[in-house]
Amino acid sequence: MKMFSEQETAMPTMDHGSPCTRVMTVTSGKGGVGKTNIVANLAVELARVGKRVLVLDADLGLGNIDVLLGLVPRHTLEDVLGGSRHLSDIILQGPAGIQVLPAGSGLPHLTSLTDSQQLILQTELEHVANTVDVLLIDTGAGVSPNVTYFASAAQEIIVVISPEPTSLTDAYALMKVLCRQHRERRFKVLVNMVKSQREATQTFRKLDVAAERFLNIRLEYMGFIPLDDYLPMAVIEQKAVTDRFPSSPASRAFVQLAKTIAEWPDPQLPKSTVQFLWQQLIPMS
Ligand SMILES: Nc1ncnc2c1ncn2[C@@H]1O[C@H](COP(=O)(O)OP(=O)(O)O)[C@@H](O)[C@H]1O
Ligand SMILES: [Mg+2]
Repeated sequence: MKMFSEQETAMPTMDHGSPCTRVMTVTSGKGGVGKTNIVANLAVELARVGKRVLVLDADLGLGNIDVLLGLVPRHTLEDVLGGSRHLSDIILQGPAGIQVLPAGSGLPHLTSLTDSQQLILQTELEHVANTVDVLLIDTGAGVSPNVTYFASAAQEIIVVISPEPTSLTDAYALMKVLCRQHRERRFKVLVNMVKSQREATQTFRKLDVAAERFLNIRLEYMGFIPLDDYLPMAVIEQKAVTDRFPSSPASRAFVQLAKTIAEWPDPQLPKSTVQFLWQQLIPMS
């Protein structure tokens, strides 16, 4: 479905000499590994280090980042995709100045956007995303067309895993589809819910070995978030853990991770049609 070759998309005219919006999609093979909490807390901490952050809840039909942050949407992406609202009508102001586009939870079957819905979303994003540094996309789990679409739209695909074996097999299955069917070859891996750094690197290594052997790709280790009882406590209070328990182990890891991301080199030029379209719509700042 890629209309431009790698070479054609990397057109010199795309480089205006200034950084473009960094689009990062957080995804996983298995549900419940912590994606939404990671997106929420990373967004808040990236905002604290000076980034203008927009969160797109792309877990369409089952979105819950608004609930996690104690926000109450009046309208959601469902209304935008249905044509009755603009994205600017649904933006919520979150903690630390982050902006959130809530997904809604009325259409659990919405795992695949139609072409016209993709066009609506891309066109609408033009109006809201040109003022941010980072667009963080939270997806559902597994290999649905939505997940692969939003992963392909990003310069950075962050795959979240936990030490559970099923999280690794499912992450591998997701990467296999993204690699074989969508030609994605760069994945960053964030290990969540680990008891130690050692457990994190061992978990990463298992996935990396399989990816190298069977997909012929090397994964990038992004770091880890420790298993932390304070995190579910913050969830119950509908607050980011970094706000509610700033000195907890998970919070400290989020702060460190946000600092690391803030220092990444500027995003690369688009590598696919979807990215090409998105970067046309999210102009260079
Ligand atoms: N580092 C962690 N320590 C402890 N509990 C965690 C951690 N990360 C996530 N959780 C818990 O795991 C559950 C699922 O997290 P969530 O972010 O909703 O996952 P996903 O979006 O991948 O489905 C939540 O109840 C959350 O409290
Ligand atoms: Mg989630």
